[in-house]
Amino acid sequence: MRIEVKSAKELSTFEKARQDCVVTSSLYYFLNGTKWAPADWTVMVWEDEDLVTNVHIVERTIKVGEQAVRLGGIGNVATKVEWRKRGYARSALSTAQNFLRDPLNVDFGMMIATEPMVPRYEKLGWRVAARSMLVDQPDGKTSLGYPVMILPVCRQDWPEGEIDLCGLPW
Ligand SMILES: CC(C)(COP(=O)(O)OP(=O)(O)OC[C@H]1O[C@@H](n2cnc3c(N)ncnc32)[C@H](O)[C@@H]1OP(=O)(O)O)[C@@H](O)C(=O)NCCC(=O)NCCS
Repeated sequence: MRIEVKSAKELSTFEKARQDCVVTSSLYYFLNGTKWAPADWTVMVWEDEDLVTNVHIVERTIKVGEQAVRLGGIGNVATKVEWRKRGYARSALSTAQNFLRDPLNVDFGMMIATEPMVPRYEKLGWRVAARSMLVDQPDGKTSLGYPVMILPVCRQDWPEGEIDLCGLPW
């Protein structure tokens, strides 16, 4: 197993093509009709030439109530079907979580989860901060109704108030 984190701008054509194969099994793919933010960083888990797991990271300053919060957004967590249940997603998330602290230094990590996935992420230190949030879409702001999970990184206390992602979701 080889894990690397790369800036999305530095991906080769080969790496992009491999990512497309993995992304087709993610929430990203199932919620079609939703416009998603492009990744700033991508965590890739390889077995030889096969990309088995992919995690995207988006850097964004959002608003919670009146407060600005610096986030590392985690999205597109997906393992190819034939490689599942071997700990690849856990390893990729652990790498992503370390990357949020160093070098990104964000206040919190944030991801949208499906309800069945919540206990799995709770085991890794995440917690549900809200059941919906405001996100931008091409026709304006809209509410996205999924569990919103956060991970304390450089700050501990999540502020009170409505969450506005101030951009496309991830
Ligand atoms: C969710 C998903 C990313 C998990 O990927 P994965 O690589 O299989 O994840 P892991 O192997 O790290 O963990 C999965 C399970 O396998 C178990 N596992 C890990 N290593 C294992 C091993 N060596 N032997 C047996 N079980 C193992 C884990 O304990 C975990 O169990 P749990 O479901 O009871 O918590 C994958 O199923 C997927 O791509 N799903 C579709 C997209 C999706 O739903 N993404 C998440 C959106 S929020």
